[in-house]
Amino acid sequence: GPGLNKYAQAAGLKYFGSATDNPELTDQPYIAILSNTNEFGQITPGNSMKWDATEPTQNTFTFSGGDAILNLAKGNGQILRAHNLVWYSQLPSWVTSGSWTNATLTAAMTNHISNVAGHYKGEVYCWDAVNEPFNDDGTFRTDVFYNTIGQSYIATALQAARKADPNAKLYINDYNIEGPGAKSTAMINLVTSLKAQGVPIDGIGVQGHLIVGELPSGIEQNLAAFAALGVEVAITELDIRMTLPSTPALLAQQQKDYQTVVAACKAVSACVGITIWDYTDKYSWVPATFSGQGAACPWDANLGIKAAYNGILAGF
Ligand code: G3I
Repeated sequence: GPGLNKYAQAAGLKYFGSATDNPELTDQPYIAILSNTNEFGQITPGNSMKWDATEPTQNTFTFSGGDAILNLAKGNGQILRAHNLVWYSQLPSWVTSGSWTNATLTAAMTNHISNVAGHYKGEVYCWDAVNEPFNDDGTFRTDVFYNTIGQSYIATALQAARKADPNAKLYINDYNIEGPGAKSTAMINLVTSLKAQGVPIDGIGVQGHLIVGELPSGIEQNLAAFAALGVEVAITELDIRMTLPSTPALLAQQQKDYQTVVAACKAVSACVGITIWDYTDKYSWVPATFSGQGAACPWDANLGIKAAYNGILAGF
């Protein structure tokens, strides 16, 4: 196609990107499209920089999976959004079932961050330093970090990440914050209080796991409200799923929905980029998680371009 990243950059964004994952790296036709910088100027590792992948046993670090994706991006001349440092999910069992005190978990978390962000120091555009800290009602998710350390785990994590890699932009990333609502308000309140305390925070990541025909209203205004806090914003994990089978009507609605999200980012100058959560239905996470749903990506499972692709171009 004409090139999603080319169109994004012409519209003033830094990048249009895609997530990928290590098992996919041997798929040559897939890699050829992923590596085309007309389409993608940025890559996110979907799994291999997460805690369970990088520190499966305490203080033993493995970077081979993350390194493979970083090296692919560097070889292609693409930037990397690193994902993620602190998240309730995909934690090794030594974290979830450890018997922690505030002091011991803070030390383990800080050690994780300094080793992982330290390993990639100078190599990544940004880190999703804290991922999915909120429940949908805007209360804090009561995970092991919150329950043991309290809300200050977020500030501590951001400070440790800044120390480990001073040049990586630090994001808080969450889903269901595309439109206004309790969860978006909670994000605004959190970032406001972090800034007031002088805690390093550079960006809000808006994941964008959406449903065809069910986009929230007010996406542009919501992105602008985030940007007004003095941070950049990015759409970090965009996909727009449907109940299968896909029909021409659903695919046409999906095209419109992709266009709507892209146009909202374009309209907000602090919205620096858009990342799709893999570019092809061949490797989308959706069918395994939402039974009966899928077809969420701009390329179909045979690596053919869908109408959604043209929706993205039209949005730019
Ligand atoms: O590694 C094992 C493998 O050994 C085993 O054979 C296989 C069998 O199921 O599972 C593999 O682990 C899977 C892992 O992905 C790696 O492929 C897990 O079961 C699976 O649950 C895991 O899913 C990932 C999911 O995060 C976990 O929450 C998805 O690939 C990944 O795309 C998804 O990404 C998240 C973002 O990090 C945060 N936002 C939401 C997004 C979508 O869920």
